[in-house]
Parts: sequence; structure tokens; C-alpha cells
Amino acid sequence: MNPEKVKILMVCLGNICRSPTAEVVFKEKAQLEKFQGYIEVDSAGTGSWHIGHAPDKRATLAASHRNYDMSALRARQVTPQDMEDFDYIFAMDKQNLHDLLAMSAPDQQHKISLFLEHGSSVQIEVPDPYYSGEDGFELVLDLIEDASLKLLESLATRHGWSRP
Ligand code: 4NP
Repeated sequence: MNPEKVKILMVCLGNICRSPTAEVVFKEKAQLEKFQGYIEVDSAGTGSWHIGHAPDKRATLAASHRNYDMSALRARQVTPQDMEDFDYIFAMDKQNLHDLLAMSAPDQQHKISLFLEHGSSVQIEVPDPYYSGEDGFELVLDLIEDASLKLLESLATRHGWSRP
């Protein structure tokens, strides 16, 4: 086994709804699949409004109903150094993707992609739930759960992960 963990960064706008949800869901799915030893997962937002804030209460509640714990997370803003430090950077929507590409060097851009492109949904963006009702947060979870499982499978194949 390669001792270097694959470093994964989930990115949205505020880092209080979608990307922290993706962080906890992806970690939990990796744990269930027994791949947690191969990865490090973090999340960040392109915007600065919510730096230091806990995740949105509606996101935390919806996640808790599916047994994901977001309570320890705090928002941070994505930095140019992240483009260097992480192996994979997943954007929740096309605006996030655009902003990430704009702050990265040409030789870092291969690391950056839309998260849902790795899932089986026809949707390629995780819709911003901030101004939506509870349904919006359930949809976020559905889309992220699907993409997380598919992405784990493809990363396992690409990096040759085996279960202990
Ligand atoms: P997120 O959702 O990008 O999924 O964390 C949002 C959170 C806050 C705002 C927008 C989207 N906001 O405008 O403050």
C-alpha cells in the first residue's frame, strides 16, 4: 500500500451546506467500504462570508437523519495553496468550478472537476440549497451519496486500493 494518502477537497460557495455534506458523506462511505485508510477529506468555500461558522442547521439536521455528523465542522475559504496540497478538488457547481480554475495554475487544473460528473445522476451540479426548503437538503444528500459511492469505486480502481 502506498503510505501517501489521497487528499480530497470538496468545494462549494459558503462551505456551510453542500461541501461539508460531501465531506462527511464521502468519509462515511469510505469507512463503510473500508477505504478510509487511503484518504484524507476536507472541504472549503470559494466565498468568505461564513469563515469559522458551523454548518447550516438545516444541512446538519438533514444529515443527522441519515446518521452523518457534521457538528464538528467549521467553514474555511479555499486558498491557492489548496490547489497544490490536494490531489483531487471537487466542485459542487459550475460557478465553483470556474472560480477554482481561475485560482489554479495550468499544471493544477487536471485535479479539478465537478463532483457529480463522477456519479450516475444526469444532474451535473449539486443545486445550492441555501434559499430552498427542506427538500433541497434531501436532494443534496441524495446526489452526494450517489456520487460518493461511484467515486470511491473509481478511485479504488485507479489507485489500486484493496480492503484490509
Ligand atoms: P453552500 O451554500 O455553498 O452549499 O455552503 C450557501 C451558503 C451560504 C450562501 C450561499 C450558498 N450565502 O449566500 O451566504
